[in-house]
Amino acid sequence: MSKKNTAQDIKKLKGTKPVVMLTAYDFPTASILDASGLDALLVGDSLAMSVLGREDTLSLTMEEMLHHCRAVSAGTGRALVVGDMPFMSYEAGPAQAMENAGRFFKEGGVRALKLEGGLAILPQIKTLVEAGMPVMGHLGLTPQRLAELGGYKVQGRDPQKAEMLLQEARALEGAGCFALVLECIPADLAKRITETLSIPTIGIGAGPYCDGQILVLHDIIGLFDRFTPKFVKRYADLGQEIGRAVSEYKADVEAGRFPGPEHSF
Ligand code: KIV
Repeated sequence: MSKKNTAQDIKKLKGTKPVVMLTAYDFPTASILDASGLDALLVGDSLAMSVLGREDTLSLTMEEMLHHCRAVSAGTGRALVVGDMPFMSYEAGPAQAMENAGRFFKEGGVRALKLEGGLAILPQIKTLVEAGMPVMGHLGLTPQRLAELGGYKVQGRDPQKAEMLLQEARALEGAGCFALVLECIPADLAKRITETLSIPTIGIGAGPYCDGQILVLHDIIGLFDRFTPKFVKRYADLGQEIGRAVSEYKADVEAGRFPGPEHSF
């Protein structure tokens, strides 16, 4: 089996090759994504919407995240598995963050974490990094703060907000993040941040100048169609393919074509 990627391996990719990531939520898809050679898999809290049918990510619990992290870790040989800390599992302070982060490693099998936010969570990030738990930052459109941001909108369009994001990106690097997700910000701002930092930026709706890209798996394979953001490219329509297979199975059973002798004992 090939060596598992570490957070340090991902950090070193800056300037050498684009970091390629997708979200994963279960064993079979994690196995497929890992075998496809992705650098890292994020067990994102998008789980709440993509897989559990919720309106947003806020209600997701630690137990639900850990359940899916375990499945993804079991299906992954080489890619770095990153666990997304859910809303209100780290905001209270470093002690709360430490306790929950430790569970991601011990019970979820992840080897890195992602936390949404900037200056307000620097103490938590420093504490986790000092304890040996690598952290990926996340700035721009941070869905756990949707109420504060006023909905799914591009962030950092005005010069003041853009400066603030640049300052927060520097601070996250200073706090020890090994990489930084930039979600839904203008491409020229993502370029500035990418050129300023020595850690890789991973874009989602942040244009072509980031050091890597991440998308939500279910968006690109056609398994989530409640809404499709402009930045998503669809590569397959598995929803339609599953519907076709299931209709064929139903027709076979109803017509007595399944099970045949070859499926019977
Ligand atoms: O939860 C998630 O899937 C994410 C990515 C979109 C970056 O945070």
